[in-house]
Amino acid sequence: MARIPEHTIEQIREANDIVDVVSDYVQLKRSGRNWFGRCPFHNEKTPSFSVSPDKQIYHCFGCGAGGNVINFIMEHERLEFISSVKLLADRANIQIIIDEAEPRKKDDRASIYNMHEKACRVYEKQLNEGSGKAARSYLLKRGLTEETLKTFRVGFAPDTWDTVTLEMMKLGLSKEILNRSGLLMSKDRGGYYDRFRNRIMFPISDINGKVQAFGGRIFGEAEGAKYMNSPETPIYHKGRTLYGLNLTRDVIRDTREAILVEGYMDLIRLHQEGFQNVVAGTGTAFTSDQAALVKRFADKVFVCYDGDDAGKKAAQKAGLILLDKGVDVSIIALPNGLDPDSFFDTNAAKDFEKLKKESRDFMSFVLRSNAEALKSPVTRTSFLQDQVADLAQMENEILRGMLAGQLADELNVPEDAVMNLLSKLTRRARRPQSSRPAAKKEQARDTMLRRPQSGSEKAEFELLRLHLSEDESLLNWLTSTIDDNFIKELHYVEIFQLLQGRLRKELPINHSRLLDEIESAEIRRFIAHLITEALPDLESISHAHQCYKTVRWWSIQREMDKLNILIREADSRGEDFSEFHRKKVKLQSEQQEIKPPLSL
Ligand code: CTP
Ligand code: MN
Repeated sequence: MARIPEHTIEQIREANDIVDVVSDYVQLKRSGRNWFGRCPFHNEKTPSFSVSPDKQIYHCFGCGAGGNVINFIMEHERLEFISSVKLLADRANIQIIIDEAEPRKKDDRASIYNMHEKACRVYEKQLNEGSGKAARSYLLKRGLTEETLKTFRVGFAPDTWDTVTLEMMKLGLSKEILNRSGLLMSKDRGGYYDRFRNRIMFPISDINGKVQAFGGRIFGEAEGAKYMNSPETPIYHKGRTLYGLNLTRDVIRDTREAILVEGYMDLIRLHQEGFQNVVAGTGTAFTSDQAALVKRFADKVFVCYDGDDAGKKAAQKAGLILLDKGVDVSIIALPNGLDPDSFFDTNAAKDFEKLKKESRDFMSFVLRSNAEALKSPVTRTSFLQDQVADLAQMENEILRGMLAGQLADELNVPEDAVMNLLSKLTRRARRPQSSRPAAKKEQARDTMLRRPQSGSEKAEFELLRLHLSEDESLLNWLTSTIDDNFIKELHYVEIFQLLQGRLRKELPINHSRLLDEIESAEIRRFIAHLITEALPDLESISHAHQCYKTVRWWSIQREMDKLNILIREADSRGEDFSEFHRKKVKLQSEQQEIKPPLSL
């Protein structure tokens, strides 16, 4: 990977004051030393988003978002680290001179993006020429306006073999790139021809609006499937892209609500009719990556699929995936035989508004669309089993349980029976999945990174906070007093390890550089929180010592609790527990020396 030298990053960070940069996106008001505004990363009425010019970091007390100026751009613009640095370099007119280590892969991607932009222009132009004119009037007849066609850059691939190929040949790119672009097909005897022919072309863009793929709808006499989509390429992964999001993300972020539809035409039509917070899949079943992508912008998603049975089933699947990612779901039921696009052939915006109002929560929708199956005891039972089997696939334990409870309730089945079935199926669903330990670990990390709750967690949090101080004698005290044994059993063990490791390398810690180097967004947020909480008055060795003792007191307490259990168990089995007892007595006297814990 091409690397931007560290000193250049430093220079870029210094040239972009965080208050200035955030002000480009958020209205900030000064209060004391800091600036406050409404958090751009979650929906809120009262400002809990703070920016510190002294520390050059931001932190939201509401949703926990936080980081330095580069992290802000990463999160706000949904960009990678390097691209965010580049954006900020541009903003400050700084030229980046890159160490060219292995620039090839990046260049390939840039070339393929470039090919897509060129192809998109060819298709756009073709919609107004020759046979494209017929496609254009077809689209207008279907109710799209000229303006809409422009906005979505709808185009036409003519019924020729080389319109796009000839254009691509001008770029002088390697065979490898041409082969991998997804725009061309290679002939057996060498050479290329156009992949898309005689199709209406819908460009699919990445979140920043760069064209990365196409969906081509059959037109006239063309052969093959109704839709032909770009294959997976170095710049395009179907399951991770949402069609239209580049145009709709700001509206979605403002309202925190999105409408999810199935097709390109559906999205374009809804958008034209004034429902601009819409996203669509890209011709594959809705994935959890796509759910994670919407979740960055929306807290609630209205799923609006075709009104037929297949559409209802697909809506149910997508709904469950969204719920599992923690997105609120409502499902809009269209009349049978209609999709969102055709709905507007005979209805107006207010009619859709009405349907949206009448939309139902996930389980109510499922029950209503399966009313037929609920009629006889036999079909009812198999319906219940199917539903519980679907729920068992969910990662989110609490939600899974709640939905099962709702199902039991609505079907008038004893809750116990449903819960038992759920836990049986859950165990079965989980067993073969190798990804389980990873999910567990993630969950453990979530718990670890929550705000301090108990007294001992608060004391740990204080100690961690002090690691970010600039007081060198305090930092030396921390590194010489805290050892691996002390950290091992703590709640924030991972963060202690991180900061202790860091102090061994640089003392004091450079906050901004630290934030840049942490890959996990969650840990970054946690660290930003620690930095924001700094209270210079409380940065002393004696305070650190108090916290240290409190943490130790509690960890002794936990060790003794464990020993008590072991003693009781050994005793009940009639075994010798003197070893445990000896350990306990030793801990007890250590604890007494520390004296009762400080309450924080
Ligand atoms: N789709 C696909 N391949 C197909 C059929 C459909 O990828 N062979 C995807 C496309 O993304 C399409 C969506 O599924 O937009 C919905 O398909 P469908 O309802 O058949 O098409 P519409 O979008 O309704 O298109 P139109 O209204 O022009 O018929
Ligand atoms: Mn349609």
